[in-house]
Amino acid sequence: MPEHTFTVNGESVTVDAPADLPLLWVLRDLLGIRGPKYGCGIDVCKACTSHLDGEAVNPCVVPVGEVAGREVTTIEGLADGDTLHPVQEAWLEQDVAQCGFCQPGQIMAAVALLRRTSEPTDADIDAIANVCRCGTYFRIREAIKAAAARM
Ligand code: FES
Ligand code: FES
Repeated sequence: MPEHTFTVNGESVTVDAPADLPLLWVLRDLLGIRGPKYGCGIDVCKACTSHLDGEAVNPCVVPVGEVAGREVTTIEGLADGDTLHPVQEAWLEQDVAQCGFCQPGQIMAAVALLRRTSEPTDADIDAIANVCRCGTYFRIREAIKAAAARM
């Protein structure tokens, strides 16, 4: 099988896998990085949202062959050592999570939004397509606004 070398959360990794294997499988099953969640596998639920070169992507539909030489960041790579990212801090303060399954993807989507738009409107936030079966959308909105205010 071909080898693919790329960066995950600041560390270079090389995996031996078919080029069309979804990155989510590589992260979770080959590298043991379980923050990105598997919900649908078809780019709908966004539970797997991570960053590729700083932009939000859904690794369930990104073949590992496409990430060679690129930078992948998952929720595990967001904090700076023991210092949480401002979005993570806001999430805790607003007590956003319920079951928690969708939350890594929600946070990664929120970080990507705040990189694009420092003062997101309600419409910007509502355009995040990540599904939350527990219905935490109101608190997500409050947390993103709180994080925006401190970034
Ligand atoms: S697992 Fe649903 S979008 Fe990736
Ligand atoms: S917190 Fe349960 S699915 Fe979102």
